[in-house]
Amino acid sequence: QAKVEIALGAIPEGKNVIIKWRGKPVFIRHRTQAEIQEARESKWEGLRDPQPDEDRVQRPEWLVMLGVCTHLGCVPIGEAGDYGGWFCPCHGSHYDISGRIRKGPAPLNLEVPAYSFPEEETLVIG
Ligand code: FES
Repeated sequence: QAKVEIALGAIPEGKNVIIKWRGKPVFIRHRTQAEIQEARESKWEGLRDPQPDEDRVQRPEWLVMLGVCTHLGCVPIGEAGDYGGWFCPCHGSHYDISGRIRKGPAPLNLEVPAYSFPEEETLVIG
């Protein structure tokens, strides 16, 4: 379907949820304050796909992105890798807690889909 609605109250802080949207996995992470701080303090200018965390999220505690490795499309594993984010086991790409590529063959950060928060506790993907 074109849009998917998610009740955010069901996702505790520090947890990942994976939903399906248009046949693709979408990662939703309820980030902790420490994770937000790490994502914002890390130097992004020199990264392969330079992007500040502020440009990747609408609300700092909610990270929403496609669960599709930008190398060859495998699904990365959460809470894994050298940068506290995701790790793609296919060829070893490491993504940080903002979904930015930090190490390995992937050329780009994990893609952020269109989404909105029509209500405080509701996320709509699409
Ligand atoms: Fe993820 Fe190759 S598909 S590292």
